[in-house]
Amino acid sequence: MDRPVSGSGRPASVVRLRSFAKVNLGLEVLGPRHDGYHELRTLFQTVDLHDDVELRPRRAGISARCDHPDVPADERNLAVRAAQILREYAGLRRGVEIVITKRIPVAGGLGGGSSNAAAVLLALDRLWGLGLGFDGLHPLARRLGADVPFFLLGGTALGLARGDEVYALRRQVEGEVVIVDPGRGVSTAAVFARCDATLTPRENGPTIFRFVSRYLEGKGDAFPLLSNDLEAVALAEAPDLAGRVERIQGILVREGALLTSLSGSGSSYFGLFREVRQARRAHSALRDAGFRAVRSRTLTMDRYRKSWVRTLGQAGRARGWGQGRNGHHGNHGRQGHPGGRREAQGLRIDRV
Ligand code: C5P
Repeated sequence: MDRPVSGSGRPASVVRLRSFAKVNLGLEVLGPRHDGYHELRTLFQTVDLHDDVELRPRRAGISARCDHPDVPADERNLAVRAAQILREYAGLRRGVEIVITKRIPVAGGLGGGSSNAAAVLLALDRLWGLGLGFDGLHPLARRLGADVPFFLLGGTALGLARGDEVYALRRQVEGEVVIVDPGRGVSTAAVFARCDATLTPRENGPTIFRFVSRYLEGKGDAFPLLSNDLEAVALAEAPDLAGRVERIQGILVREGALLTSLSGSGSSYFGLFREVRQARRAHSALRDAGFRAVRSRTLTMDRYRKSWVRTLGQAGRARGWGQGRNGHHGNHGRQGHPGGRREAQGLRIDRV
């Protein structure tokens, strides 16, 4: 059971932070789970495209404001729920106003809402002087959503189970990313529901683990192994997207992308490039073709963490917010993983 924690009564101050987006470099759906979710294997990657999140301490009451009309201000907003469950867990009565400036496309498979929620957990842990750190926040993050735990870690990480059991990769992916918003959202729940009718449940999916072992061996040509099982399903759910995705993919490939894929359940599509000039050319070609596209760069776990430490300072570092002593954030009991970072990665990779 969750244990109540008391706050330290630290003086209140405004905290401003960046809340970064993710793409899924690869995604395999193994089959439905008993909890209504799907068993996944995915490779998450944070990118430097970000929302700005500002936390203003209040005596009581949790509220949110966002400059995007489709983002709710009540508890349908995951950032509000994050503040609520942390406050409840800590047994506090304090309030906070959350102000979000949106840059990450909404409902685009880029994890914007989940990232905002993780940002709120990490920042309020500091602001309220709770000292929970990554490990203490992980169970709360899982309750909020399958993608939220990943945003406590960032960088390149393997996501297992519902995607909420996350392992940092020893070798982080670095490159340029061009993200395209094809102009309409797709419902994540609808895409996963359609999976059950179209995908055959399986015990194993070879591509993600094969990619990880090849990539860690330093073989840069591993990217063609990756694919996203949700891509065909999302296009069946939103058939009007198929033509647009084909054109987007054509441009990304022509300009030399190492990998092109739908992110998560969509609808954002992205290309990963080695060279800035390739990404620049792809970006302008996509814009010329009338697409909304943004250029971004991968954000390694180290840079992701440094961004938090820079913003939130020493208190976080003391509880493992600097260099990770444990790259695994998941359900340690379920599969009996050793907690150590190298062992957790090695165990997974050796099984390929
Ligand atoms: O956890 P989150 O609320 O982000 O998930 C949104 C929806 O996506 C879930 O309600 C579920 O329908 C689907 N989902 C799933 N399996 C996963 C992750 C998400 O079925 N591993």
